[in-house]
Amino acid sequence: MALIELDGISKIFTVGGATIPAVDNVSLRIERGDFLSIVGHSGSGKTTLLSIIGGIIRPSSGRVLFEGADICPMADDDLSTYRSEKVGFMFQFASLLPMLTVKENVLLPGLFRQERDARDKKMAEEYLSLVGISEKINAYPSQLSGGQQRRVAIARALVYEPQIVLADEPTGDLDEETEMSVMELFRRLNSEKQITFILITHNLELAKMAQRQFRMTQGRLA
Ligand SMILES: Nc1ncnc2c1ncn2[C@@H]1O[C@H](COP(=O)(O)OP(=O)(O)OP(=O)(O)O)[C@@H](O)[C@H]1O
Ligand SMILES: [Mg+2]
Repeated sequence: MALIELDGISKIFTVGGATIPAVDNVSLRIERGDFLSIVGHSGSGKTTLLSIIGGIIRPSSGRVLFEGADICPMADDDLSTYRSEKVGFMFQFASLLPMLTVKENVLLPGLFRQERDARDKKMAEEYLSLVGISEKINAYPSQLSGGQQRRVAIARALVYEPQIVLADEPTGDLDEETEMSVMELFRRLNSEKQITFILITHNLELAKMAQRQFRMTQGRLA
């Protein structure tokens, strides 16, 4: 069974009487352990599609099957369980909570999970070290540079080792060397732990490192 199957997904936004077909009839099979990249012009629907897969927005039509079960008709509670237990989301804009420390931000997804223990804290330390930011563990987001905040957000999406990581321009504000080390981390987690990745990027070199490469054009995926 595919990990995720998109079946005729469309999303139409309505703004002041105008309709915007952000995602237009996208069908896609994603197997466990896949590594997909998506490139495409600004406004082509990439973030919208990723948000639909992550259960953040609901499609106007179509189905999103996760391990065979459609997430679209789920009640909000079940959808938030899906988000917190199966999905690691790296938002296009890093979105750390300013009143929490780096470590607390990384542990945030755990607040919505059933089991929490000392292991979580070790994992937070481990992933912050993997993204090269151990020394900032007790700092607040406002005390970090943009790229450092970005790396905290990356650690946060990985710390519970979700089944699928949805990464929306995760390395846009990193220098080339740091960007490459993040990409290496993704590839290692992909091959060693079978974590599935969907990476949106404007960097064609990074896009080419994926197993399967897609381009989004006006809501359509090819
Ligand atoms: N909440 C919303 N309400 C109305 N229109 C929206 C909304 N979100 C996105 N759109 C529109 O849907 C289209 C696709 O937007 P989306 O954010 O998915 O593009 P994108 O490919 O991620 O672009 P970028 O590369 O700039 O991040 C755009 O025309 C955008 O204006
Ligand atoms: Mg976007």
